Parts: sequence; C-alpha cells; structure tokens
Amino acid sequence: MIEKLEQIKQAAISEIANANSSKDLEELEIKYFGKKSELSGILKSISTLSDEEKRTVGPAVNSLKNELMSSIESRKKEVVSRELDAKLKEEYIDPTIDLSKEEVGHLHPVTQLRYKLEDIFKSAGFFVYDGPEIETDFFNFEALNIAKNHPARDMQDTFYIKDDVVLRTQTSSCQVRALKEFGAPIKVVVPGRVYRNEASDATHDFIFNQIEGLVVDENVSIANFLATLDTLIKKIFGENVNVRLRPGYFPFVEPGFELDISCLVCGGKKCPACKHTGWLELGGAGMIHPNVLKAADIDPEIYSGFAFGFGVDRMMMQKYKIDDIRWSTSGDLRFVKQF
Ligand code: FA5
Repeated sequence: MIEKLEQIKQAAISEIANANSSKDLEELEIKYFGKKSELSGILKSISTLSDEEKRTVGPAVNSLKNELMSSIESRKKEVVSRELDAKLKEEYIDPTIDLSKEEVGHLHPVTQLRYKLEDIFKSAGFFVYDGPEIETDFFNFEALNIAKNHPARDMQDTFYIKDDVVLRTQTSSCQVRALKEFGAPIKVVVPGRVYRNEASDATHDFIFNQIEGLVVDENVSIANFLATLDTLIKKIFGENVNVRLRPGYFPFVEPGFELDISCLVCGGKKCPACKHTGWLELGGAGMIHPNVLKAADIDPEIYSGFAFGFGVDRMMMQKYKIDDIRWSTSGDLRFVKQF
C-alpha cells in the first residue's frame, strides 16, 4: 500500500509541475482529492486492513494529501499571477487619459447660417428646393437667357465636366428647374454650393455658397420686390440695416440690380470692413426676364416675378467679422471650433 502511495505521489507531483492554468490545477484537485479519487478509495478501504497497516497507511495518506495540497497551492500562486499579468496587458487601462469631456462635433458656421436663412424664408411662405451641383449648360446658362456665345459667360469662369455639363456657377441654375417642376405661382429659395474658376483671395473662393430666391405670380410688381427684400433683409440682419439697390447686369433679370446692405460693423459710418464705403454687396437681384419664364413654359403675359441670389459665405464673414473667406473651407479646426 505504501508503494502505491509513492506511485500516486510521483505522478501527482509531475502533473502539478506541468499544470499551466488555474483550470488544469482545479482538475488535478478533483483527480487527487475528489470522492472518486484513488486516495479516497484507499481511505475507504482502511477498515479492511490489519491493525498494523492501519497505523501506517492512515497517517501516510493524510501526510500525502497535505503535501499535494500545498504543492497545488504554491503552483496556483505562480499560475494565477502569470494569468493576471497577461490579462492586465490585454486589458490595459491608461489612467492618465482625461475622459471628463466628450468631443462632440457641430455644424459649420456657413451651415448654421444657411439653416437660419431657410427658417426665415420658410416663415415668409417660401419652400426650400435642392438642385444638383453638377448641372447642364441649359439650366446654368441657356435657360437663363445666356446663349452659348453670350459675353455674360465671361463673368463666371466655369469648370466644365463635358461640353454641356458644368459645375453650377450660381444657384440661379435652379430657377427654371423649379419653375418647370412646380409651375407658377411659386415662392422658393435654393441654398447650396456653387463653383467658379476664381483666383481666390480674401473675399473670393472657388467653392462658395449662395441662396437663391424666386417669386412668380400674377401681377408681381417692382414695389412687391422692394418691399419683400427689405422685410426679409431686416429679418436676417436686424431692423437697423439699410438696403440699397444699384443698377446691375444679369441677362436673366430686367431691370437688374446689385443689392447692398449698410455695413454691419460700422452701421454705415465707413470702416475698413466695408472698405470705407459704408455699404456691402450681398448679391444680385431683379425682375425675372420674360425669356426665363418662356424657357419654363410659363406665359410672361400672365405671370411676372422677381429673383435674387446672395452670397452666404460673405454674410457669414460679416456676421462673425471673419477677415478671409478661405478659412471657411480650410478644414482648420481652430477656425471651426469657435462657432
Ligand atoms: C450671381 O451669381 C447671380 N446668380 C445673382 C442673381 C440671382 C442675380 C438672381 C439676379 C437674380 P454674382 O456673380 O454677383 O451673381 O454672385 C452673387 C453673390 O455671390 C455675390 O454678391 C457674392 O456675395 C457671392 N460671390 C460671388 N462670387 C464669389 C466668390 N468667388 N467667392 C465668394 N462669394 C462670391
């Protein structure tokens, strides 16, 4: 029996030394100390032994049990600490990271302004229309009374995709689109991005945003045009702003105007922001040319209307006193994060 115990001891010691995980060691505990283990069997059979054997086998089984238990415990300490090290490496936590503030993005200032303008126009009964940035020559030019060789094309140096397809140079491209789709009467605004082959400078970019407005109905007069624009511009910039019209040439309106507002920085008193004129150009406007209505199959004998197109980036520059339009598309977070 003592020899049997010695065999169990040798086998157990080598298995404990080779155990590489706490799970292996738990299995060895069951194998050597469980109810069905060889040692349990020996203890159960002690009553059948002679008195002399009982005196030696009993204490020998107990001392073997204690010895194996303590070697399992010490092996467990090594294995568990190795397992813990591996886990800590895998689930590394950096206590120096500051998680107190979450980085949440926000809308670009031009988009914020665009949404504000949309709200103002919607409250005045306009609906918002969206058109394609890749546009046909027809909608961008021809339908607007600018034929293929018209000198007015030189005013907007254009990116051509193909002979008859351009990156739209103005949101006016949506005038005939909207008229064809919805007919008259109509009150619509079209905000969106436009492209021109510009040598960029502080007030000119080659990508910028405009908002177009179009009103067509029976008996729309120049008086309606002036009153509507004056009211809307005061809603956008406040009651103290003054509006000024200068004659301007756009082939799709007659008469055509350049529309200025009094400088928001100095209130019209003349300052560097308005180049000491007291006025700022917001965009073009005018009474819709009959040829544009005809291009949309609308009878100019019955209907008339007005249109306007403002530069949204220039408005943003005024609102936030930004000195260079190119900040807008720079992608520089130091700029964007200020709004
Ligand atoms: C037009 O684009 C006409 N479609 C406006 C119009 C609409 C006239 C309806 C009549 C009826 P203009 O090229 O002037 O016009 O541009 C209008 C505004 O866009 C300018 O006043 C300016 O605010 C802005 N703008 C023009 N070019 C640039 C540019 N390169 N960078 C930034 N803003 C610009």
